[in-house]
Amino acid sequence: MMRGKFISLEGGEGVGKSTQAQMLSDALEMRGLGVLETREPGGTPGAEAIRKLLLDKQFDWDVAAEALLFAAARSDHVANAIGPALNEGQWVVCDRFIDSSRAYQAGGDDLSDDAILSLHTIGSYALMPDITFLLQAESEDVAQRLAERDGDNADRIGSRSADYHARVAQRFRDLAAMDPERFVLIDAAGSPEEVHARIMRAMAPLLGEGG
Ligand SMILES: Nc1ncnc2c1ncn2[C@@H]1O[C@H](COP(=O)(O)OP(=O)(O)O)[C@@H](O)[C@H]1O
Ligand SMILES: [Mg+2]
Repeated sequence: MMRGKFISLEGGEGVGKSTQAQMLSDALEMRGLGVLETREPGGTPGAEAIRKLLLDKQFDWDVAAEALLFAAARSDHVANAIGPALNEGQWVVCDRFIDSSRAYQAGGDDLSDDAILSLHTIGSYALMPDITFLLQAESEDVAQRLAERDGDNADRIGSRSADYHARVAQRFRDLAAMDPERFVLIDAAGSPEEVHARIMRAMAPLLGEGG
């Protein structure tokens, strides 16, 4: 059995990751591929339970506890959903993965990128996606999308300051620059269909459809 391909979608809140994960999964299924569409934190019952802890505003996790919870959720997700699916030949489309931990939990004063990658080695045998789409949009466009989606109900991490989210966006760009073989930068402006078309053009080589 050929191992499936592992695709992650990354970027800040509201850039369109979940919208594009769904459209990409549908497109792959239309091509006759078996697809697991999943998300982080979450994707298994245990990891979804950890997700609730992470996003609940009644808790004030410090950066280390937060990083460990994300790593624990990812470990369960990889062991019980992503790994088995890939081994069965399914393609996995994951809405956020390790790069979100690297962008959100590392880069401040407390945790280094190496620390996050060590947790990933312990938790998930350092599994990396075959391809990672980094969706990028102007902060004004994103603010408008989020206002329409969430109103005043942003979660514990989504509701952090604009400065925090700008730093996260910059860290995502740095990660992409460090690993240009794996990352594909996607302009997330325009309609969902336009963004999807950009992603499918970048998927062509993986799908054996020419470049
Ligand atoms: N290309 C787009 N143009 C306008 N609105 C969009 C676009 N893509 C997604 N949206 C809307 O913007 C909001 C955020 O998109 P979503 O996919 O939830 O982003 P993310 O998962 O990255 O946080 C949703 O309400 C979604 O319907
Ligand atoms: Mg989403």
